[in-house]
Amino acid sequence: MDIKRWDYQLEIVENKNICLNFYKFSIVSKEIATVAVAGQFCMIGFEKIFLRRPLSIYLVDKKKGTVSFLYKVVGKGTDILSKLSVGEKINVLGPLGHGYNLDIEEKKEPVLVAGGTGIASIHFLANSLKIKGSLYYGVRKKEELLCLDKFEKMGWKIFVSTEDGSYGYKGFITDLLQKQIKQESVVYVCGPTPMMKKVIDIAKGKNIFGYASLEQKMACGMGVCQGCAVKISNAYKMVCKDGPVFSINDIYFE
Ligand SMILES: Cc1cc2nc3c(=O)[nH]c(=O)nc-3n(C[C@H](O)[C@H](O)[C@H](O)COP(=O)(O)OP(=O)(O)OC[C@H]3O[C@@H](n4cnc5c(N)ncnc54)[C@H](O)[C@@H]3O)c2cc1C
Ligand code: FES
Repeated sequence: MDIKRWDYQLEIVENKNICLNFYKFSIVSKEIATVAVAGQFCMIGFEKIFLRRPLSIYLVDKKKGTVSFLYKVVGKGTDILSKLSVGEKINVLGPLGHGYNLDIEEKKEPVLVAGGTGIASIHFLANSLKIKGSLYYGVRKKEELLCLDKFEKMGWKIFVSTEDGSYGYKGFITDLLQKQIKQESVVYVCGPTPMMKKVIDIAKGKNIFGYASLEQKMACGMGVCQGCAVKISNAYKMVCKDGPVFSINDIYFE
């Protein structure tokens, strides 16, 4: 298959703080905006870091050619990124990986489950799916909630949990999911590994099919360094090249 990806220096057209330590940044690339699908990511490089950092595509505007990302400052790379200004150039390699399967039977309900920055890839997915269903979104406290208004506008039913009880259900989003999920669902999950593990257990336990977008530390992002290998269906796969989205039936966390 002909893989289309680009590796070039692009100007930042937006880089703003949204809340707490969460930021949104955008670049303009008609090429990436045209071919990117939900679940894919780009490797972002800039001065003072050796390895590029993977970020999921949060939104594309095909007409304007903008490609946007949502990120949380967690270490050196994301901290430097948050301080870059509009007009400065960064290196963008992408779009990379395989996205979510968007073909679901009409009688099925898509159930999106997001934790933390997993909301970035889930947001692009919510935008791309023709059938709208439910979003289950878990964070630690209400100040960390991102883009709820956008999901509402798109017509998704929203269930939120906060660990401190400051908004929605108090506890883990997986508790709510376990109670409410219906047999005719297709699950899509992206978030911290313990949350994904639980969601996969719930879905498998109820014979519900779905997809999970895995996160691993990455160096090359293209299947060369083998640094992001995970065991999938008894064979090692590269999260960057074979994923990051895998069918949940193939995932067995060790
Ligand atoms: C396919 C993919 C998509 C991603 N999409 C997003 C996104 O949309 N928004 C976002 O905020 N983050 C996303 N991440 C995670 C993001 O790449 C890391 O947070 C970032 O690389 C950290 O860089 P740093 O230099 O700031 O932190 P570092 O100093 O490198 O690390 C700080 C902390 O973050 C952890 N960390 C570093 N890299 C990763 C990683 N790849 N996965 C999980 N934990 C990591 C480290 O273990 C450490 O605890 C994604 C990761 C992958 C693999
Ligand atoms: S990051 Fe190099 S093989 Fe996946």
